[in-house]
Amino acid sequence: TCDIAEGFEIRQAVPRDYYKKHLEVLAQLTDVGIVSHKQYVNFVTFATLSQNTYVAVIEHLPSKKIIGSATLFVEKKLIHSCSSCGHIEDVVVDSTYRGKGLGKSLVHHLVGKARLLGCYKVILDCAEKNVKFYEKCGMKQKEKKMEVRF
Ligand code: ACO
Repeated sequence: TCDIAEGFEIRQAVPRDYYKKHLEVLAQLTDVGIVSHKQYVNFVTFATLSQNTYVAVIEHLPSKKIIGSATLFVEKKLIHSCSSCGHIEDVVVDSTYRGKGLGKSLVHHLVGKARLLGCYKVILDCAEKNVKFYEKCGMKQKEKKMEVRF
């Protein structure tokens, strides 16, 4: 459980969220491509069993639609006495519902989850325009982002 505006619920994604338009909110973040119902069910089932991938969604209860999504990936490490590092990925709130504190609730939910799972830190990459949002979520800028893209 977590602090969230009335009429909304944060929980782990389940197979029926495919019909609650989970992929449509993700499409507001990036190119989702083609994901079949079977692929979706496999993914969320695997994520639930894996214990290292936690896909959180926000459901708008009156409309039964998924209007927010974010993923926590828990990376097991050898360092820090075999501790774990949490990675927050793919945070998005439907444009109609932004500015109500829902994004912050999602991030807080995942940070709390990471803490419970024994992570010593939680990190993420974001665009410059989202820095203020993550600062409001209690995060700080640290070091630089690098990539090789294929
Ligand atoms: N600039 C400055 N402040 C901001 C911004 C912004 N762009 N966005 C939110 N805030 C502030 C809010 O004013 C609020 O401040 P307050 O606590 O003082 O009232 C606080 O941050 C929390 O805002 P929320 O209402 O919880 O944010 P929202 O629900 O609107 O979600 C989000 C923010 C997720 C970034 C949303 O705008 C979105 O989905 N954007 C498009 C997708 C995207 O860019 N996602 C992030 C990708 S990075 C990643 O996934 C790791």
